[in-house]
Parts: sequence; C-alpha cells; structure tokens
Amino acid sequence: MKLPSPPLPKALRRTPPRPGENGGRNGRRNGAPATTPTAKDQAVEGVAGVVGWLDERTGGSPFLRGFLYRKVPKGTNWYYTLGSATMFAFLSQAVTGVFLAMYYEPDPSRAYESASRITNEVFLGEFVRGMHRWGSTVMIILIFLHMGRTFFFGAYKYPRELNWIIGVVLIVLTLLMGLTGYLLPFDQRSFWATIVAVNLNSSGPIVGPYLADFLRVGSEFGPTTISRFYALHMLAVPGLIAVLIGAHLYLVAKLGTTAPPWLKAEKKDLLREEV
Ligand code: HEM
Repeated sequence: MKLPSPPLPKALRRTPPRPGENGGRNGRRNGAPATTPTAKDQAVEGVAGVVGWLDERTGGSPFLRGFLYRKVPKGTNWYYTLGSATMFAFLSQAVTGVFLAMYYEPDPSRAYESASRITNEVFLGEFVRGMHRWGSTVMIILIFLHMGRTFFFGAYKYPRELNWIIGVVLIVLTLLMGLTGYLLPFDQRSFWATIVAVNLNSSGPIVGPYLADFLRVGSEFGPTTISRFYALHMLAVPGLIAVLIGAHLYLVAKLGTTAPPWLKAEKKDLLREEV
C-alpha cells in the first residue's frame, strides 16, 4: 500500500500572511503599514525559495519525502543506528582520504617520505591521517556490529535476502579497503605485513594465485604494486562501496526495517481477514 506523502517540515512551510499584516509582494495589505521581516523570516523564505526552485525543475520532493519519511516499526531502538553509523564512518573515510590524496605520492621511492611529510609538516596532517587510520578500524567494528544486529534480529530473512547479500559484498570490500590501505605508508611493517597477507591470499583455492598475481602485478612485489594498491584503494573499491550502499539504502527504504524479534503482533484478530 502506498502511504500518502508526509507534509513538509514546519520550518520549510511558508506562513500565509495574516490579514492586515505584512502581506503581498509590496509588504502591504488592506492599507496596513508594512512590518519589516526578521532575519529568520528572510532565511526561511530564502531556503523555501531554493527548495521550491529545485523541486519545480526536478520533481524530486515526492521521492525525497518517500525516502526520508518512513514509518518505522514499534520497538525500533539504538541498535538500528549501526547501519547509519557505518555509513558515516565510510563518509568520514572518503573525506579524510581526499585530503590525504592531495599530498600522498604512490611511488615506491616517494611513498614513505610523502606519508611522513603529511604527519610532520602538512597543516593538520597528523590529525587527518590519524582520523583516517582510526576511522578504518571504527568502520570495521561498526560493520560487524551492524551485521550482528541484522543477523540476531532475523533481518536477513524473506524479503531482505538480497540486502543481506549486498551486505556480505560490502563487508568483503571494506576488508579489502583495509588490506589495500595498509601498504600505502610503505614502512617496514606495512610492506612485510602486506607480503604476508598477499601470500596467504595466494594459497586460497582456485582463484587465490590469480588474485595474488593481480594484486602484486606479477608473481613478485614490484615497483608498480603500490600504484595498483593505490588505484584500488582510492578509486575502484570505494566507488563500488558507494554504489552498493546506494542499492542497500534503496532496499531499506523500499522494504522498511524489521521489527525486533521479541515483539509480537498486538492483537491476533488484526491478522485475520475480515469476513
Ligand atoms: C558499508 C556498509 C553498510 C552500510 C553503510 C549499511 C547501512 C545500512 C542502513 C543505514 C540500514 C538501515 C538501518 C539499520 O538497520 O541499521 C541497513 C539495514 C540493513 N543492512 Fe546494512 N549496511 C552496511 C553493511 C551491511 C552488512 C555487512 C550486512 C550483512 C551482511 C547488512 C545487512 C543489512 C540488512 C539485512 C538490513 C535490513 C535491516 C532490517 O530490515 O531491519 N548491511 N544497512
């Protein structure tokens, strides 16, 4: 059943002028003196104007309202925020990553130096690099907690199996972000840890050796390995994650979220068909 579009938020609604008060385009109505609109009125009017302008040209408001104003089941609790928290961790990684990419050089002879320059010389570099490093751990913790929530609440069952499958791909891609990012500082630890990880990878069945060759760009680590990891880390994998998050959220909006498993239908009669 299609729900009616919910009303616009109060702050974006135009208040009709009261009789005798500041009405009309020239600020007067019924000969009453004009009152000066406050800065807040002007700001609301400005925002409503821009929203109206965009809506007239895109017809986007029914879509946005349907997407953003959804009925949620009774008993929705803090555990339901873990998906959004994961998404914000991803966005924070994307923003900090863009700033790091402005200074990082994916070249075996420059990578270590450029990464240390970010920490020691660039304005707020240590802070942004720290956010990106800790953010990666935070995102992985959150994604596992979110997966646990959907598993224990039975949200993987019909009709949400496809969203679960998309989630599984997202978790693999998130781990791949961790693997490809780990090499980039190019210090002793990151270099040898990545060699161990890729060797482990190559021992996997059937595709393992091919995957390892693809990651190394050949059978050994070479001068182009770091650019391959960099391209995967900052373009291919995050692009795919962004597209899949879009599909994931579309399905959440379309199917709604599940009620907690401990809630039962309130009245059995409501489940019976009327005769
Ligand atoms: C980048 C990673 C991910 C993001 C940004 C994300 C985001 C979200 C959001 C915002 C929701 C709705 C609110 C909520 O239930 O928390 C949701 C629901 C859901 N997610 Fe994820 N998710 C991610 C990864 C995963 C993973 C790894 C799985 C499972 C393998 C998964 C399975 C599901 C399922 C089944 C639902 C529906 C929940 C329900 O109907 O109650 N998601 N996701």
